Amino acid sequence: MNFKKNILCIGAGYVGGPTMAMIAHKCPQYKVTVVDINPVRIAEWNSDHLPIYEPGLDKIVRQARNRNLFFSTEVDQNIKRSDVIFVSVNTPTKTFGAGNGMTADLQYWEKTARQILQSAESSKIIVEKSTLPVKTALAMERILTSNQSGIYFDVLSNPEFLAEGTAINDLENPDRVLIGSHQTKKGLKARDVLVEIYENWVPKERIITSDIWSSELSKLVSNAILAQRISSINAISALCEKTGADIVEVSKAVGMDHRIGDRFLNASVGFGGSCFKKDILNLVYLCQNYGLHEVADFWKGVVNINEYQKERFVLNMLAAMFNTLAGKRICLFGFAFKADTGDTRESPAFFIANRLIEEKVELVITDPKALKNAKNDLDEFKEEVSFVEDPYKAASGCHAIAILTEWVLYQNLDFEKIYRSMLKPAFIFDGRNIIDHQKVFEIGFNVYPIGKPALTHF
Ligand code: UDX
Ligand code: ADP
Repeated sequence: MNFKKNILCIGAGYVGGPTMAMIAHKCPQYKVTVVDINPVRIAEWNSDHLPIYEPGLDKIVRQARNRNLFFSTEVDQNIKRSDVIFVSVNTPTKTFGAGNGMTADLQYWEKTARQILQSAESSKIIVEKSTLPVKTALAMERILTSNQSGIYFDVLSNPEFLAEGTAINDLENPDRVLIGSHQTKKGLKARDVLVEIYENWVPKERIITSDIWSSELSKLVSNAILAQRISSINAISALCEKTGADIVEVSKAVGMDHRIGDRFLNASVGFGGSCFKKDILNLVYLCQNYGLHEVADFWKGVVNINEYQKERFVLNMLAAMFNTLAGKRICLFGFAFKADTGDTRESPAFFIANRLIEEKVELVITDPKALKNAKNDLDEFKEEVSFVEDPYKAASGCHAIAILTEWVLYQNLDFEKIYRSMLKPAFIFDGRNIIDHQKVFEIGFNVYPIGKPALTHF
């Protein structure tokens, strides 16, 4: 079949996979190929067990795969054949040298740029899809224009705003699609090619355009502001616990002001995920580089409160359980960084598991989708941790349960049955405020929510 356009995506991860599946689903006239250097990942994308769990993803992949959606490890050949290349390789936080622990590690991304340069035989549009620090597109453009072959690359910024767990809906009905381009004739022409792709399903007024730098910065700032809301409410949750106020009541009252809005005001054990911390630290590093130390400190505070919230959760457990956790058996309900994903990157559960292991706790971890990743993450603690899929079996014989992921299934458990199987006094620490605290208190649990008075039998 003759396709109207050949679209390639380099990097078959949480962003590249679902985004390309949606383009293929909405645009049967395009051939969409996703390549990755990891052959296991590609084999999984081509199998019945996709490498990531995302509600609704299986269905659209199954419909489009081998029709106009292809997964391959053949990077060079596919670069040659493509008209538009999305780059969505990973950009983790650097763990060495200058900017260690703060700025993005750009080695995968630079390798990709060089590979495009090496393999391309005709002009192409390159779309930057990974979250990258501001001005990376310029660096990419410099690498791509270092050739003498007469081939021309237009570099666009098109940040992805999908959230895991709701990726399919976010892709299908985005609040906005943002495209940054050079404001030159060529830049605008390339931008229009990308606009045309999205216009297949996104209403025109939701496709917004800007210069490249503003587009890149908008992604960092969106994530920073979302995370800032969570840190704001989490900071107040600490005050509520001291003063007897209820954070859920406070959030509700504050969120009903339509200037503020009610979303992203749920107090929690802390935010996780691959984006928030990484993006804020990028922003902080950027501000520091420009000598904007006050601005850097402001945003660093968002990450600091998140670290404080996770540590506070552990210290609350310790204080509630008579200042010793050594030898106690504690069950973590949830290891994913949020509900409806198997992703555990930067999950607060990882931090809490490590801290509890330091306190010599015997850990039992349960999660409906993230146990495989949890096992990898905690590989060095085989002696201290067990993994149990069934939450009833996981909690049996434990001194305490800590709810760390807001899976709906934890709201509907039979807590009487769970209580009967646990050691007494039994504790429940609800790091997501998702269960009926009064009800489980009446069953016999000592209950410690976030930002609300504890309900105890002592
Ligand atoms: C985020 C952004 O929302 C998305 O636009 C961007 O593209 C990538 O980063 P993601 O990290 O997938 O998405 O999930 P998100 O729903 O934002 O949740 C992030 C973390 O914040 C999770 O750990 C979640 O549990 C936590 N959270 C969220 C809270 O603790 N309270 C809230 O009110 C909302
Ligand atoms: P994200 O959450 O941003 O999508 P992931 O880590 O899930 O990040 O996915 C990034 C993917 O990019 C990984 O599967 C990784 O193997 C792939 N990748 C990294 N470098 C290259 C490269 N040079 N060529 C092709 N794929 C790459």
